[in-house]
Amino acid sequence: MNRLAPIGRTPLATLPTPLLPAPALADAVASGMDISVKADAWTGLGLGGNKVRKLEYELDPAGLRGVTDLVTAGGPHSNHCRVTAAAAARLGLGCTLVINGEPTDAGRGNALLHRLLGARIVTVAEREEREAAMAEEAGRIRAAGGRALVVPVGASTPRGALGYVHAAAEMHEQVSAGSGPVWIFTSSSSGGTLAGLILGCALLRWRVQLVGVSPDDPAAKVHRAATEIALAAAPLLPPPPPHGPDPRAEDLVQRVRDVAAATLVTDAFVGPGYGVATRAAEQATRLFGARAGVILDPVYTAKAAAAMIAWAREGRLPPGAHVIFLHTGGHPALFR
Ligand SMILES: Cc1ncc(COP(=O)(O)O)c(C=O)c1O
Repeated sequence: MNRLAPIGRTPLATLPTPLLPAPALADAVASGMDISVKADAWTGLGLGGNKVRKLEYELDPAGLRGVTDLVTAGGPHSNHCRVTAAAAARLGLGCTLVINGEPTDAGRGNALLHRLLGARIVTVAEREEREAAMAEEAGRIRAAGGRALVVPVGASTPRGALGYVHAAAEMHEQVSAGSGPVWIFTSSSSGGTLAGLILGCALLRWRVQLVGVSPDDPAAKVHRAATEIALAAAPLLPPPPPHGPDPRAEDLVQRVRDVAAATLVTDAFVGPGYGVATRAAEQATRLFGARAGVILDPVYTAKAAAAMIAWAREGRLPPGAHVIFLHTGGHPALFR
């Protein structure tokens, strides 16, 4: 997309990811449905997922100059930590992961992958200790003559969100003209992915209904985070050409507010808690597997898929809707 082109980006992902039609899944969900899966589980680096796109913009080449190490933080099975460690390895940098909590299963899932990707693991007891520990590790690296770049948890920063502006542009191009009203369902937690979609749709003037499905936090918190990140990301885009076809193009911030206000976020599918299985998520996983050959992860995408299926069957989607299910990855959680 033209407005993104001048922004520094380190290519890490295999793009564009495919938009896969899923007709048999659609038939099984509800009659008259049209479902496609945007396969961001296949962004490539370090087993892929949504974090790869975010890191492409978070790790811009100017910010990486002179950097010797990446430092970030997350839980013992963090997808973000896995992909950051993979990015460091790809870029020839060291990686320190501040992990809150000792995994009981360090030889499995993302905990195993953090180690296989060569990251140095520093364990703290509580989430609240992570920021201080990251600063301490950056200081330790500096004292040893290196230079650390601290990547915020989840890369859900305004820069990181630009990765999903890019994804929105891909989907806009991939959706055939004349398809029904487009609804995009995505898992949304720290809000960076949804923020990028909000900004991307505002920028493209693409009339899409966005739905964020929380795997953990209350819907209002997720909605607020996504809105704030989208608004903070909008000024990162260069201004439109002065004599471009759209003299009103600078109402972008207002359009972001409008798209954000229309965006729906639900926390009705969290169940007993983060990472805890629900019946609806298990059924969604079986349906996606058996009717689309698409494997969901149990923590994020299975719950987002459960929401999509429930809303379709409850008649909450308009007739003829084209549903895009954004598969944000997370597969290693299947193997814990
Ligand atoms: C697999 C997967 N899907 C979705 C999300 C949510 O994305 P975001 O934090 O950008 O809202 C995450 C974040 O951890 C994730 O790992």
